[in-house]
Amino acid sequence: MDLTEVLMRNGFVAAEEEAEELLAAAGGDEARLDAMLERRLTGEPLAWITGTAPFCGLWIKVDPGVYVPRWQTEVLARRAVERLPAGGTAIDVCTGSGAVAVTLMRAGARVVASDLDERSVACARSNGVDAYAGDLFEPFSEPVDVITGVVPYVPTPDLPLLQRDTFTFETALSYDGGDDGTAILRRAIAEAPRFLRPGGALLLELGGRQADALQDALEAYADVNVLVDEDGDVRAIEATRL
Ligand SMILES: C[S@@+](CC[C@H](N)C(=O)[O-])C[C@H]1O[C@@H](n2cnc3c(N)ncnc32)[C@H](O)[C@@H]1O
Repeated sequence: MDLTEVLMRNGFVAAEEEAEELLAAAGGDEARLDAMLERRLTGEPLAWITGTAPFCGLWIKVDPGVYVPRWQTEVLARRAVERLPAGGTAIDVCTGSGAVAVTLMRAGARVVASDLDERSVACARSNGVDAYAGDLFEPFSEPVDVITGVVPYVPTPDLPLLQRDTFTFETALSYDGGDDGTAILRRAIAEAPRFLRPGGALLLELGGRQADALQDALEAYADVNVLVDEDGDVRAIEATRL
């Protein structure tokens, strides 16, 4: 049975693409390929096995234990690039592997980043990001042009509904946003103005109806926009500092 078929029979929806990534990572070493497949069949995230994940046309290094960047975040990252002035600066909070930060750096920005998780900080650094261990804006003092954040925003009661790979392998630190999922979003919205230049942009990933729930918290900002993907699904908010 070929690799794609094995993956398909085990319920992996993107079997063909996954087979290609595994084959490339194994580099022709059959024993290595078997070991990688065995890990994947347990549900371990593909990126932890191959060591990389695609994001905004780049390949980002992702160490085991570090949140795997998702295509759903590309809407936020691309819009953040559009908000950068020439030679602009940015803060990426909750940076994980540094995927969003790297995208901004490739667009010419000077970026600093934070994460509570030491493994994530080390991984982001290995991707070339100037990353620091700390809570949200705690490591920073200088205002910037753009702030990005894919903060945890899953409501605590929904954590068990996350897909198998996520719930089994990834840490709740990446997902748990409190009772309605907005606890850390609210903190980021409240703290960001101190770190944004006037006219600077705050971009935060969120889901479903959270943008409505955050209207009151966003009153201190101008031009609040909801960003949707090509299917019309809500992916993020963008708010401009007055
Ligand atoms: C959903 S992941 C996003 C990672 C990355 N930005 C991406 O899109 O691939 C959230 C990250 O936030 C980190 N984190 C959670 N709470 C945090 C906090 N209060 N301050 C800084 N980082 C935090 C987690 O360790 C995790 O790496």
